[in-house]
Amino acid sequence: MKLTNLNLATMSGGYGLIPNAALVIEGDKILFAGPASEAPAGDAINCYGTLVTPGLIDCHTHLVYGGNRAAEFEQRLNGASYAEIAKAGGGIMSTVRATRAASEAELLHSALKRLDTLMAEGVTTIEVKSGYGLDVDTELKMFRVARQLQKLRPATLKTSFLGAHTFPAEFKENHQAYVDIVCNQALPQAHAQGLVDAVDAFCEGIAFSLEETEQVFKAARALNLPVKLHAEQLSNLGGAKLAARYKALSVDHIEYLDEEGVDSIQSSGTVAVLLPGAFYYLREKQPPPVAALRSRGVLIAIATDLNPGSSPVHSLLTTLNMACVLFGLTPEEALLGVTANAARALGLKDRGQIKAGLKADLAFWTVESPGDLAYPLGLNPIAAIMQDGKFSKAFT
Ligand code: NIG
Ligand code: FE
Repeated sequence: MKLTNLNLATMSGGYGLIPNAALVIEGDKILFAGPASEAPAGDAINCYGTLVTPGLIDCHTHLVYGGNRAAEFEQRLNGASYAEIAKAGGGIMSTVRATRAASEAELLHSALKRLDTLMAEGVTTIEVKSGYGLDVDTELKMFRVARQLQKLRPATLKTSFLGAHTFPAEFKENHQAYVDIVCNQALPQAHAQGLVDAVDAFCEGIAFSLEETEQVFKAARALNLPVKLHAEQLSNLGGAKLAARYKALSVDHIEYLDEEGVDSIQSSGTVAVLLPGAFYYLREKQPPPVAALRSRGVLIAIATDLNPGSSPVHSLLTTLNMACVLFGLTPEEALLGVTANAARALGLKDRGQIKAGLKADLAFWTVESPGDLAYPLGLNPIAAIMQDGKFSKAFT
């Protein structure tokens, strides 16, 4: 299939713009991407001068969960902190109770709506974490829902095991017993059932210590699974440094990452994933060290962190805007953060740019330049979406 009359943002070396371009798609791959004048001859579909980017990649979400935490939003606006609510048994634990109580069909139904909302903005690859089960059965249930979603929609779903999200109430006095369940039961069982693509943890004062996180990383290594980490979100524990030692794919949040931490993730080639939605909702004051990340050439990705507590954000385009306004990223950096660099954060080499040989996951936009994608709020300028070489949303 040949497509003409389009402007490509290849996301190779910045925007990597190619005006008056053509694409040739064969099967699920890009066969040619370049100036129309150099394209192989043949009948072509007119794309009306649309801008084409790689399909967007949301590399950090908690898409599957039960319940609703709007009441906590009110509590926080009345002065309670996220950590205080968590210590009082709310926060993540509140969602754990609701997720345990929910049937698989209920979880699937609510997650599907969220997935469709993300996909409507040209998102073609989405990471989904477990971590609201915190017992073997419910963690497996969450993964089964993620795999069901994969069957129902064309987007690629990558799963991360987040059994080490927080300590469930029943293990409040015996953390090690819970870490043992995570490392010796939940993770190996989920892995044996082919449900896990990567292993994550929440390393924080209110969650897992460095030592506990390392036990989870060792269990992941024993199964040959890549790791990532919620690190340095509310304080600086040195989680990023630990993650770098385990060659983590990404460290996420990282508002409190210091220079030493930046150096260590630079040497391990770990991607810095910024989550402006959580920063916005928790009304944090300390932004991540963007200047230091830039000056060391650390790859920066951006994600919604879609979850019911700290980031009920269902729009990757909104997240692009937040990354620019709140963290000072340029629109070009932000767009790299949801394409080329987000692919790296998931360890995916076959997508995130528009290049011959890569997967034909593409988003077609009715905007003049890629910078327009990060500028307005609440506008969805999508014209068409191609997934695996097929239009999942056709031009209308
Ligand atoms: O990425 N930081 C920890 N985990 C999630 C929040 C989960 C929740 O509050 O339910 C996050 O922000
Ligand atoms: Fe998260």
